[in-house]
Amino acid sequence: METADRQSILVAGCTAAFGHRAALALARRGHRVIAGLREPKGRGRDIAAELGAHARADGLDLRVVELDVNREASVEAAVEAAYSATYGHLDTLVNTAAYAVLGPLEACPPDQLLDMLNTNVVGALRLYRAVLPAMRAQGGGRIIQITSGLGRAVLPFMGPYAASAWAQECFAEALAMEAAPFGVRVSIIEPSGYRDPGRPRKPVGDQARLEAYQHQLVRLAERLQDGEGTDDPQEVIDAIVQAVEGDDVPMRTPVGASAKELTALRKRLDFEEYERAVLSRAGLSPDSLD
Ligand SMILES: NC(=O)c1ccc[n+]([C@@H]2O[C@H](COP(=O)([O-])OP(=O)(O)OC[C@H]3O[C@@H](n4cnc5c(N)ncnc54)[C@H](OP(=O)(O)O)[C@@H]3O)[C@@H](O)[C@H]2O)c1
Repeated sequence: METADRQSILVAGCTAAFGHRAALALARRGHRVIAGLREPKGRGRDIAAELGAHARADGLDLRVVELDVNREASVEAAVEAAYSATYGHLDTLVNTAAYAVLGPLEACPPDQLLDMLNTNVVGALRLYRAVLPAMRAQGGGRIIQITSGLGRAVLPFMGPYAASAWAQECFAEALAMEAAPFGVRVSIIEPSGYRDPGRPRKPVGDQARLEAYQHQLVRLAERLQDGEGTDDPQEVIDAIVQAVEGDDVPMRTPVGASAKELTALRKRLDFEEYERAVLSRAGLSPDSLD
């Protein structure tokens, strides 16, 4: 890679699949990568050590910093560390830090929703606020936000998480328009659901309320099991690399079959048609629930 093409990149959320793999893939392509982990000395210690070992063994320019997007001081310190580690330059932010609260809306504990929004939405804002002054001053940069195939559509029992993904997309659109005059380009990657046995997804809420929806939850889980895992998560990493390096990066890149299908359905259909299509595919049509 030519020195001029080599970017300094901060990746947030590097303990889990996408952030971790993206950090390594970008470093292997010759970029300087600062991998943000929420607890590099605690729960993320093994992953921090593994990333360090890869960096040493393969001669990668990759270093780990602590980055908890819920804490402004941590975000600012990570961005400062990125600037000093990379000699005062940060070309690109890739934000994968987020998590999902799933389940029937009725059962969703408000405090858990607030915590998730704090991470997924306000956390993204904290990152943007931290990197933008320097990106403006240097005349440009890229911000790549990982959202979801649920960033423009919703499925039953995914309302809380989808709300955070919609909000992330809304912020990204506003930011794209506001920051373009400063040369800062914003883009969104919308992954499909990929199965990760290490991170099981369970509906949250109290038992009595969950039980009322049990029949539908089981039906949906079966359908998701059938559909999920058929896409290759490497596609998400390829899309991130393309968003980092490409010249004409589209605002949105849905990745994987279900994200493409859902976003296309939502675009094409009004809500009543969309509802019928989704409930029928999920096996949740009123007449199929007996
Ligand atoms: N995997 C999928 O099927 C899928 C599908 C669609 C969209 N997405 C989105 O893609 C992104 C990455 O997903 P993923 O599957 O790789 O991982 P994930 O299991 O959703 O976790 C994402 C990462 O966010 C980090 N994180 C959570 N809270 C944080 C905080 N306060 N500060 C900093 N980091 C924090 C996690 O760190 P800890 O390990 O410390 O919690 C983890 O590294 C997320 O935005 C997710 O919503 C994923």
